[in-house]
Amino acid sequence: FIPPSSGGSGGGLNAKDALGNDVVVSEFLAEHSPGDRTLTQGFKGDPTYVVVTDSNEIADYGLNAVCTHLGCVVPWNAGQNKYICPCHGSQYDSTGKVVRGPAPLSLALVHAEDVDGKLVFTTWTETDFRTDKDPWWV
Ligand code: FES
Repeated sequence: FIPPSSGGSGGGLNAKDALGNDVVVSEFLAEHSPGDRTLTQGFKGDPTYVVVTDSNEIADYGLNAVCTHLGCVVPWNAGQNKYICPCHGSQYDSTGKVVRGPAPLSLALVHAEDVDGKLVFTTWTETDFRTDKDPWWV
């Protein structure tokens, strides 16, 4: 699997907002609060969550929002502190780790980093920190 490149650094992909514009980190943080999960466009155009940490920074990982069951986009439920799939009820914890089926796998990770002020995703090829296993998505 070779992710498409936007021509950014090192095979990274600029995260895009709902209007298709590059996500600018300072603007994004000004508009969002700690704990927010916000959908952006990531690899292959997949909806990808950007997480704002409790210390008001962008988390160093993003989550592909496509349910690992049959591919519905999974909304964040702040009240329950989980992602809950509306299609068949799968649940994922706040880090995207599956905690209730029928989804078989956790939400896919990407790296998220600030590159010259813009948010850039790169492929997560390392161990999945939630399961201590190799990533299933590469
Ligand atoms: Fe998400 Fe079936 S597609 S639970």
